[in-house]
Amino acid sequence: MSGATDWLSRAAGPLHGEVRVPGDKSVSHRALMFGALAEGVSRIHGFLEGEDTRATAAVLQRLGVRIDTPSAGERIVHGVGLHGLRASSEPLDCGNAGTGMRLLAGLLAGQAFDSTLVGDASLSKRPMRRVTEPLAAMGARIETTQGGLPPLVVRGGQRLHGIRYELPVASAQVKSALLLAGLYAAGETEVIEPYPTRDYTERMLAAFGWPIAFEPGRAKLSGGHALRATDVDVPADFSSAAFFLVAASIVPGSELRLPAVGLNPRRTGLLEALRLMGADIRIENPRESGGEPVGDLVVRHAPLHGVELPEALVPDMIDEFPALFIAAAVARGRTVVRGAAELRVKESDRIASMAAGLRALGARIEETPDGAIIDGGTLSGGAVQTHMDHRIAMSFSVAGLVATAPVRIHDCGHVATSFPGYLQLANACGFALESLV
Ligand code: S3P
Repeated sequence: MSGATDWLSRAAGPLHGEVRVPGDKSVSHRALMFGALAEGVSRIHGFLEGEDTRATAAVLQRLGVRIDTPSAGERIVHGVGLHGLRASSEPLDCGNAGTGMRLLAGLLAGQAFDSTLVGDASLSKRPMRRVTEPLAAMGARIETTQGGLPPLVVRGGQRLHGIRYELPVASAQVKSALLLAGLYAAGETEVIEPYPTRDYTERMLAAFGWPIAFEPGRAKLSGGHALRATDVDVPADFSSAAFFLVAASIVPGSELRLPAVGLNPRRTGLLEALRLMGADIRIENPRESGGEPVGDLVVRHAPLHGVELPEALVPDMIDEFPALFIAAAVARGRTVVRGAAELRVKESDRIASMAAGLRALGARIEETPDGAIIDGGTLSGGAVQTHMDHRIAMSFSVAGLVATAPVRIHDCGHVATSFPGYLQLANACGFALESLV
């Protein structure tokens, strides 16, 4: 990865055309994992060719799973069954992916062999006790550093038993890690969330034939069944579409069409937030694909105004705050975000990263422990840091579209973790984004 790549984003637009954003990251990770544990051959269409999801594929290959790549965006996973994985003699490198590491921790807790999970500098700073503690309550043995950080050493050969666990924070990753361990556990594993989070694990387990009961905020399964291979159609990633939704909303004269975007209600909080701010976003051709709601998004420029963001929207837009902060910084009036302390433990501390970057561009933003108060206005040019965070980089490329002078964004290499080809797609619809290698 070329972490040292800087970008320069200049004022441009209007934005026009059709933007086909890549496959959903959350769905791609899970499709690989369930395909690997299934009996039979699963085909994944629309797989995200990002560094995060490729890292998960490479981990599973190290564990003895054959994964073919017939063409870009396609994977054929030759499942080995629930007990068919083999020990890796090398550490398993999850790259930048919190989802990869946390879900694999649950999956590996039930194996007969030891594994070590490692990650890059950003992932190595992310809290892992949120998964290791409840997994330990299920009988797993997982070692972390003193501070509860990676690497994770997962000891195999443990007898797992189901638990009923009330999550202290809303987290699909923690929920999914426990459900994955639950496949190997004796008895019932039940997970209860303070707010409902994305339910891809639950939906996909059902699609792979595992009996599971779930409703928003709650999921329950028992061990001892089998996964049957199935094909997975991955929708376009709403979180990748988010940058274009904000960009077209704030650049006068713009109209973009984003086809076949995943619209799972646990992901589309930004749509509601932007509409509350006055955005003009329509859903066309709503349909189902691979058991997930999808639709074509049509977004037109509209004057935005600040809002007090309803806290209930936070989990449904947890990855979209960097993009929202840009919208808020150029909207008329004040935007207040509360109840979003989780942003501090994402790929970077996203409240701090966005506040520092926006201030460097002359915005008025006050950090709070669990959010921010942003007074909209005009952005100037300047230089911003990404803190190795893909979404910070893409968000400031959007800011550059409406800034009064160019915005230099340091260290944009991590964009490839979730959105390969972003720069080209952005420029094709009217951005003026340049890579300064
Ligand atoms: C994800 C869950 C969310 C999200 C992440 C992907 C997933 O993390 O931020 O990008 O695929 O389960 P948390 O579960 O930590 O909120």
